Amino acid sequence: MSIPQLADFDRIVFFTGAGMSAESGVPTYRGHGGIWKQYDYERYACQTAFDRDPEGVWEFHNYRRGLVGACRPHRGHDVIVAAEQQRPRATVVTQNIDEMHQLAGSTGVTELHGSLWKLRCEACGATRHGYDSPLAELHCGCGAWWRPAITWFGDMLNEAAVQSAIQQIGQCELLVAIGTSAVVYPAAQLPRIAAANGAVLVEINPEPTPMSSMYQHHLRGPASEMLLQMAEGLELPT
Ligand code: OAD
Repeated sequence: MSIPQLADFDRIVFFTGAGMSAESGVPTYRGHGGIWKQYDYERYACQTAFDRDPEGVWEFHNYRRGLVGACRPHRGHDVIVAAEQQRPRATVVTQNIDEMHQLAGSTGVTELHGSLWKLRCEACGATRHGYDSPLAELHCGCGAWWRPAITWFGDMLNEAAVQSAIQQIGQCELLVAIGTSAVVYPAAQLPRIAAANGAVLVEINPEPTPMSSMYQHHLRGPASEMLLQMAEGLELPT
């Protein structure tokens, strides 16, 4: 079966997970070198842990800020930006918190799990967005701890982000899922909406996933190479 080309579709959603950032150097969560193999999420990535030990949770998040801050987008991110700019409607729905898409130049990014670079104060409602690493001032002006504005285990997803994702995915003609293990819900089930609407579905992942059977096309390789194979007819930055 020939590889679907981005240039042939008007409404495209790129649905991305940690594997999209792997070639940028950001560790994935599962599989070889996965973060949750080294770090227990119950100690570092849930509200209970933060309530019990905010310093410990911040140490982990500052470590991740350092790691991610040293990473740069790759050629696959450029392909997505080119599609955004050269197709009538191409957007990104991501589970990633690293902002690698935005760094590459993507403007239509829906973050399902928040961002490592955003903070919120649960006490006074203040929010902040910045790239300092490590974050030196861990307290809001009101005196409470800043909380990373990330969806941790057990948290509800941001409702506006979910609604926006549902709308985009429901209207797309082509959905390209890239680098997600498709095991974390509710995000994992969103591509089903595109399938139900008859969209063309492409899965880019070196490994099969529990959702693979839903996709008509499987590109088994790294995100950058596979996206380049879908980019005939698009102009890419040099
Ligand atoms: P995972 O770490 O679960 O899965 C990463 C996927 O990327 C795997 O299926 C790999 O086979 C694939 N992969 C690895 N290298 C790749 C490459 N170069 N190109 C393409 N694919 C590659 O990451 P997610 O599915 O994003 O949630 O995880 C979902 C959520 O679980 C995350 O958003 C995070 C995590 O716990 C929260 O923090 C709430």
